[in-house]
Amino acid sequence: DIVSTKKILLDAKRKKYAVPAFNIHNLETLQAVLEGAWEMKSPVIIATTPGTIKYAGMDYMIAMAKVGAKKYNIPIALHLDHCEDIEFLKECIYAGYKSVMIDASKLEFEENIKISKEASKFAYKNEATVEGELGKLCGQEDDIIVDRKDAMLTNPDAALEFVKRTGVDSLAVAIGTAHGIYKFEPKLDFDRLLKISRIVEIPLVLHGASGISDNSIKRSIELGICKVNIATELKIPFSDEIKTYFSENPKENDPRKYFNPAKERVKNIVKKKILVCGSANRK
Ligand code: 13P
Ligand code: ZN
Ligand code: NA
Repeated sequence: DIVSTKKILLDAKRKKYAVPAFNIHNLETLQAVLEGAWEMKSPVIIATTPGTIKYAGMDYMIAMAKVGAKKYNIPIALHLDHCEDIEFLKECIYAGYKSVMIDASKLEFEENIKISKEASKFAYKNEATVEGELGKLCGQEDDIIVDRKDAMLTNPDAALEFVKRTGVDSLAVAIGTAHGIYKFEPKLDFDRLLKISRIVEIPLVLHGASGISDNSIKRSIELGICKVNIATELKIPFSDEIKTYFSENPKENDPRKYFNPAKERVKNIVKKKILVCGSANRK
């Protein structure tokens, strides 16, 4: 059956590797991710945003993940990514999600605590695990002035207070990454990450990992990151392969043909990211 992220992230923390979380959107991307993870014998987190769940259908999503969990002999978690709506989060847990993220990071500190605490209480009662977020991921603009940047990144002392008061199981930190790809790879604030992981005991999560070099991802895992989120680095190649296929075969209309190179490409990237995360052969 699908697992929660509790055990797999604690194992990752103990052994200093990270479990990759790949955002998927449909059957094809799910298959590609699971095949890649299975070939590497890696635990894997299937991440679905509220937008994806609304697109694919919550029931379909859970059913597909369950089929995968039955088919492949590796730990597979189905995770609700970036949920800002506590009612939707509860709906997902009722329906069978065992891992959720409450993202109230846009709100003021006290509001974030209040909502994240409610999410973690609800999840605890229903045997699900919760990821909270403190700090703001940087925007696409890479030219934000330093003062503003500092105000957005996760404050280590505030992180400790946040974790204590909310009871979340894992914490997404802002150390300079952003969602999407970058014009220039950002310099990550490793000192800040080290300070956070010295005082916060729960697994830490790196969002926005697409576009971050393998070395920086590895460094952040050494410094306490246990979950690495990757979306764009799968999404762009997947659609690029489909575009290429159609430019070379403009008359093709069979999805059983035009999806294959895209799936293969995603699977290969998944395998590479698993090597970077150090999660191969951990199942
Ligand atoms: P990227 O799109 O930069 O990989 O970010 C993924 C992410 O953080 C999903 O929550
Ligand atoms: Zn994210
Ligand atoms: Na990114």
